[in-house]
Amino acid sequence: MKTKLTEMLGIKYPLIQGSMQYMSLAELASEVSNAGGLGLVPSMAFPNVDALRAEVRKMKSLTDKPFGFNISLVPEVVIPQMIFDYINVLIEEEVPVIETSGQRPGNFIKPIKEAGIPIIHKVTSIKHALAAQADGADIVTVIGTEGAGHPGLDQVPGSILWAKAAEELEVPVLAAGGIVDGKSMYAAMSLGVDGILMASRFLASDEVKAPRSFKEKLITLPETSTVLTMKSLRNAMRVVHNKQAQRILDAEAAGATLEDLMPLISGKASNIALMEERYDDAQMTVGQGVGRIREIKPAREIVAEVMADFYATHDYMKDLVGKD
Ligand SMILES: Cc1cc2nc3c(=O)[nH]c(=O)nc-3n(C[C@H](O)[C@H](O)[C@H](O)COP(=O)(O)O)c2cc1C
Repeated sequence: MKTKLTEMLGIKYPLIQGSMQYMSLAELASEVSNAGGLGLVPSMAFPNVDALRAEVRKMKSLTDKPFGFNISLVPEVVIPQMIFDYINVLIEEEVPVIETSGQRPGNFIKPIKEAGIPIIHKVTSIKHALAAQADGADIVTVIGTEGAGHPGLDQVPGSILWAKAAEELEVPVLAAGGIVDGKSMYAAMSLGVDGILMASRFLASDEVKAPRSFKEKLITLPETSTVLTMKSLRNAMRVVHNKQAQRILDAEAAGATLEDLMPLISGKASNIALMEERYDDAQMTVGQGVGRIREIKPAREIVAEVMADFYATHDYMKDLVGKD
């Protein structure tokens, strides 16, 4: 299959594995790239530039296919100088693709453009998609409210955003949020996008960095099991509605400030709780598509299965239309 995305990035399938803080490390991302997609590693999961450089080199040792690293620009969390230092490492190491997310990329994009590295920027609205394109993003990913991570405050489903972004943008568009198989990928691409990005599906992979018991719990969750926390901070996050999420919602309802909320919303603390299998104490981000994720598999098999399902869906549609 050829799309503007596969041509631009030199990949076999228009399927990108979304960056997952602390969890989508080289072991997972390299397998997605080896299977013909594109794996993304979160740069901010690494405490300093040396650790980041080591991960890039590990990635190069595990795959000779294109791969990418995400740079999170969330304003409250990152220091601008740190972002530039991390971007420099990615440029020096000639990382094939850089993904940015979290705020308008304009202030950070120049060195990446000068290095000639394709930039994917991830947004949650049409307004931000147009701004990212104006800033120079080569590809824009649009997440519907279904998605994990920070899917925005507007709560507009992907099917509306993807179609509109494909109509209004000139650069290639990627659909994200709730895509977990070939059928949902097919549905997204029928709206005119050039590829898809999915993350939650890869939480139920062998290679994602999480305890086995987490993955086993995940595949039992229904589509109604998530909630948006941190709306009061205008940085909504879709998480499993567990005890930790309820603590955050209660604190927000009581008027807590960012400072009050920090101990509850700290990504680092949540990741420690998750790794120690204390699931009631972790903020666990997952998309609504979780209700359709039922099997833990190696990442390579997930990619192969999604693509086989995509082509089977195409045959089904051809049959259906042929019966006119
Ligand atoms: C565990 C987890 C951690 C995530 N961490 C990040 C992150 O650090 N930065 C980011 O831009 N997106 C992050 N995301 C969002 C994904 O990259 C992606 O945009 C979103 O999950 C797509 O929706 P889906 O999960 O329904 O496929 C994370 C998602 C998950 C499931």
